[in-house]
Amino acid sequence: MKKLCALLVSLALLMSPALLPAYALDAVTSATLDISSLPALRQNPDTNVLVIYFSTDDTVKAAAFAVAEALAADVFEIVPETPYSAADLAYYTGCRADREQDDSASRPAIAAFPESPDRYDVIFLGYPIWHGQAPRVLYTLLEGIDVSGKTVVPFCTSASSGAGSSAKNLQALTGAAGTWLDAKRLANHSTTEEIQAWALSMKLTKEESVMKMSINGTAAAVEWEDNDAVRALAELAARGLTIRMSMYGGFEQVGAIGQRLPSADVQTVTASGDIVLYAGDQLVVFYGSNSWAYTWLGHITDKTPEEMRSLLGNGDVTITLTVE
Ligand SMILES: Cc1cc2nc3c(=O)[nH]c(=O)nc-3n(C[C@H](O)[C@H](O)[C@H](O)COP(=O)(O)O)c2cc1C
Repeated sequence: MKKLCALLVSLALLMSPALLPAYALDAVTSATLDISSLPALRQNPDTNVLVIYFSTDDTVKAAAFAVAEALAADVFEIVPETPYSAADLAYYTGCRADREQDDSASRPAIAAFPESPDRYDVIFLGYPIWHGQAPRVLYTLLEGIDVSGKTVVPFCTSASSGAGSSAKNLQALTGAAGTWLDAKRLANHSTTEEIQAWALSMKLTKEESVMKMSINGTAAAVEWEDNDAVRALAELAARGLTIRMSMYGGFEQVGAIGQRLPSADVQTVTASGDIVLYAGDQLVVFYGSNSWAYTWLGHITDKTPEEMRSLLGNGDVTITLTVE
């Protein structure tokens, strides 16, 4: 009976791809990938997350697919036009990889760039550490795509080295574009569960991430506008944003965000609970009314005018914005 049960379980596992780690289904065994069958390994029209990776020996590939599986993300593999042979990767022998890493101008050609990267808000960028840095094909990629307005999450694997300056050097290629999170180095023995827990802990996907506001520690429910200013504010909030506000005019609190956001000012009559952007870089929250040209950010939905006045009308406050 025990044997029969074991057989049935094995059969169920074999027949149910959902129970298998995604990468097991797509595993490659050598660096010589068939570039014509890539790069679009998976396309989910509803996702706002793209996992881009480069891997020659499947370690990063396994991590990339674990992340993609957890976040229902699309996957794009960076495929060099000339695949790396085993000899090319025999590091410390003066091999091709050694020479490329040694040459800051090296930009090995890649077979393709991701299609329509505009539709993604978040890009996970996975690579192996080669001589303390990202392989030069990552440089080729980043000089060919625009990560403006996106959150970039670098992650890497290595035999023993940390991420070091690898992600900072990649970021430098893109100017000030996008919001780059700290690079995550995944140990070679990381389990799929550990990698997925890390990916999920950042709560970066469309469905799950919500910008939360608190005023002097009191949570305020906000209905945010769907515009570029709110998206840029959420990028800052994802790293934790604290704004020191000052009472002004007997009807509002205003404070410097510390960075300019995309503005689209319109003449507006505000009401209690409204949140607007003033002069491109000031957050304003109203407990009364004013008429001025602002960019709409949102509205606090769970406070009466009396509650707003008692929160904001009794001295300067601190506003905290986070993405959870
Ligand atoms: C050319 C080359 C250079 C490497 N340099 C380093 C290094 O500096 N530090 C390190 O810990 N591992 C280094 N490694 C090992 C890889 O980072 C590690 O095996 C990685 O997990 C491979 O990922 P992959 O299987 O997805 O290709 C190097 C590997 C190669 C091929």
